Amino acid sequence: MTKIAPSLLSADFSRIAEQIELVDRAGADYLHLDVMDGRFVPNLTWGPKIVGDLRRLSNRTFDAHLMIVEPERYVDDFRAAGADIITFHYEATVHVQRLLAHIRSIGARAGIALNPSTPVSMLQDVIGDLDLILIMSVNPGFGGQSFLPVAMRKLAEARAMIDAHNPACELEVDGGIGRSNIAAVVEAGANVIVMGSSIFGAADPAAELRALRALAEP
Ligand code: DX5
Ligand code: ZN
Repeated sequence: MTKIAPSLLSADFSRIAEQIELVDRAGADYLHLDVMDGRFVPNLTWGPKIVGDLRRLSNRTFDAHLMIVEPERYVDDFRAAGADIITFHYEATVHVQRLLAHIRSIGARAGIALNPSTPVSMLQDVIGDLDLILIMSVNPGFGGQSFLPVAMRKLAEARAMIDAHNPACELEVDGGIGRSNIAAVVEAGANVIVMGSSIFGAADPAAELRALRALAEP
């Protein structure tokens, strides 16, 4: 079954407990937490303190997407704050395999995100060290951007790599997804779908989540 991961980036933080409860009750599988440092991406969000506070509001899987330089400096803090999946960017660090192994050693699931310009083939020598591949379908940094079509081919390539070498690995896609293209990204091989503005920008986020889930089932 396809997993739905609402991105809290587009939620209203003045009503965050209510917004989390809404998507929890509508059956969100993961809560996607976008961490931005103003260096890897030109935007800022939150750090481990906020993740730890949010942790008390939900038992869902916390899916932390670190858009920060030198992620190795912070993964322990995000794990301690309650992140279940820790995904960092291939482009943001030097020793990718070491960091994947470290994330697993502290009890989290380890993911790598690829910017639109980074080929899937960069993962061929670490596919066995991965619990999740995140294909970015926008340039990271902001919600509400348009889906970049190159992601479709990359999802198919990542799906083929996963099926051949590590079938347990999840394939997540993030950016510009909504009613018009959710079925297509699932068809291309994604099994975890991140959506921010299409869920939290809807008049009724819970109803929208259910509608999106129905469209996502192949
Ligand atoms: C963008 C973030 C996304 C963002 C997606 O850098 O990684 O998770 O919230 O937002 P939408 O779904 O609005 O494109
Ligand atoms: Zn994200």
